[in-house]
This record gives sequence, C-alpha cells and structure tokens, in this order.
Amino acid sequence: MSDLHTQQTEALAAIAAAADLAALDEQRVATLGKKGWVSAALKTLGQMSPEERAAAAPAIQAIRTEIAEAIEAKKAALEAAELAERLASETVDLTLPAPAAPKGSIHPVSQVMDELAEIFADLGFAVATGPEIEDDWHNFTALNMDETHPARAMHDTFYFPDKTLASSSEAVGQQKTPDGKDILLRTHTSPVQIRSMLAQGAPIRIIAPGRVYRSDSDATHTPMFHQVEGLVVDKGIHLGHLKWTLETFFKAFFEREDIVLRLRPSYFPFTEPSVEVDVGYSNEGGRRVVGGHGDAPGHAWMELGGSGMVNRRVLEFAGVDPYEYQGFAFGLGIDRIAMLKYGMNDLRAFFDGDARWLTHYGFSPFDQPTLSAGVGARA
Ligand code: DAH
Repeated sequence: MSDLHTQQTEALAAIAAAADLAALDEQRVATLGKKGWVSAALKTLGQMSPEERAAAAPAIQAIRTEIAEAIEAKKAALEAAELAERLASETVDLTLPAPAAPKGSIHPVSQVMDELAEIFADLGFAVATGPEIEDDWHNFTALNMDETHPARAMHDTFYFPDKTLASSSEAVGQQKTPDGKDILLRTHTSPVQIRSMLAQGAPIRIIAPGRVYRSDSDATHTPMFHQVEGLVVDKGIHLGHLKWTLETFFKAFFEREDIVLRLRPSYFPFTEPSVEVDVGYSNEGGRRVVGGHGDAPGHAWMELGGSGMVNRRVLEFAGVDPYEYQGFAFGLGIDRIAMLKYGMNDLRAFFDGDARWLTHYGFSPFDQPTLSAGVGARA
C-alpha cells in the first residue's frame, strides 16, 4: 500500500507539472490507461481474500478517483489556457471602421451548382429538388434495388434509429413512415429521378444538385457531400445523346474544347446498360488538369461519375411506359469537379468553415455565372 501511495504522490506531481495536453495524456495512460499502474492495482483485488479486499479496495479506489479528478482539473486548466491564448492572438477591434468591401463570399460548391444550372438550362434542363430525409422506397426500391439487393449494403446508409424502442429490451429498430418505409438520409441524388417522373411524367429533362450522405470519412470522403443527378426521358433517346450531353456540359464547365470522355462499361441497378464516365487529364505542376486523350503520352483517365440508359424497371416504378419512352441518367460528384476546376486538394476543408479558406477559394456574390460572360469565375 505504501508503494502505491509513493506512486500516487509522484503521479499527482507529474500531472500538476504537465506542460500541455499531450504530456497530460501520457500521465493518464501511465496511470488509468489499460496498462497503467492504477488499473494493474485494481486487478490485484481479484486475487485477494474477502477480508484483504475489504481493506484494500477503498484505498485503491480512492487513489483512482483522486488521480482521475486531478487529470480532469488539469485538462480543464490547460484547455482554458489554450483558449485564452488563442482569443488573445485573434482579437478583433470592434471600434475600427467597417471594412469598405463586403466580407462574405460564395462557397465554391454553391458557385459550381450555379454554373451547372446555367449550362444545363441552356440545354433545356430544369432544376429539380427532393428531400434529403428520404424513405427507402425512393432511395432504393424504385431504383431497382429491392430489400435483398447487395448494392444497398454498399451505400453505408444512415438510417434513423427508433428511439421509442431503445429503452425496451427489443433491439433498436428503425423509424418508419406511416406506410411502413424505413426513413434514411438519401445516399445519392437518384431518388429525385423517381420523384420528378412521378410528379411530371414524360418527357422530362432535369438536373438535381444537392447534398447526399454516407457513413464514410477520410481525406477523400466526408459523411455529407454533393452530387448532381441528370435525367432525360423522351422518345428515341439513346447512348449517343448521353455522350453528347456530357461532353457538351464538360466543355462548357471546364471552359476548354479539348475535353475527351471515355465511357467504360459498368453496373448500376438503375441503368442498363451502365457506363462510368472518365475524362482525360494530365499533371501540370503537381496539379491535375483536365483535357486531352487519356491514352496520350503524359495523360491518364480519371473517373467523374456514373451514367447509363434508365432501366425499364425504374421507368415502370415511376409510372412511365417503357414501351413508349427511353431515357438516360447520370450522377456526378460536385465537390470532385469543383476541386478539379478550382484547384483544391483536400475535400475536408470544404466543410470546415475556416474563414481564411473561404476568403481564398470563395467567390464574389457579384460573380454570377453566365454563358455569355463565361461560366467560370472572372479572376
Ligand atoms: N447514384 C449513383 C451513386 O451515387 C451515381 C449514378 C450512377 C447516378 C449512374 C446515375 C446513373 O443517374 O445513371 O453512386
């Protein structure tokens, strides 16, 4: 016991002396961590006789509590000091006159969405929207992914847990719509295809930009990101129309004529046939620049999205007669094409809300994309 008290005194001194949060965490690991000496002491209780344990347990518990409290208190103090230092270094003098120019800026994602709408409007597309909180019928079933379809599992879907069941002994269930459909955050913009066709029938020509959600997070994936869906349904539509439309769009969007697309056979439940859309690019000064044939020297192909001819089952689900109408659809990542066009390399920074990043990459509210003056930003 006296050994433990010596260790305790030393640990408390080290905690008090910790210069920063990292040093403090070292102390936490050495004491309360899985392999720390306090945890080890607690484990010895199991081998003691009941009398020994009755004597030792309160003492060891007291040591544990005292160390835990010391760490908590020190952590709070270190954090407060860090915050105070930051506030001191970032003070704003509110008595200064207001800046001459407005400070806000348009986020690149908003700017690119406006560019998309402008270019596609010129090709006769209307902008459609749908709810971000969807049900599994629109998000999956009507897109030809029934309950057992393996593609459902690949979407890392955020479902809404049913809180009313959580406290009972039953497993936590999923929240449902009144007619029994699972509620979820849409995993793609494709359900807007279904909603638009159900609402207006055919012929139809829409794009649907918006937020989508998947349980995924690293340097190139964020749990929320942006897609744009495209859908054309009419009589006699074929894959050639799809390729021309995408090519025309990308030429206008990247503001260069040398855009070369490659349609690569693929699979999506909601299209048949399905293709992935690649664009040729080269590396210039460590930056990817679209343009040129992907097989040309110094060039390669990069995937931009998925597309294909709308599966006739999808048309049927959406109340459109597949004997009369055909369609093509596509889905592109907006963040991805924004990064390519404006040269950002880390997706996560898009959503940090850091004013310095926004000032650097944001656009003036006066910089409205127009086809006559160029859809891109005027530098
Ligand atoms: N919804 C697909 C996804 O999120 C992308 C996609 C592929 C959309 C093919 C389409 C399409 O409209 O035809 O991965």
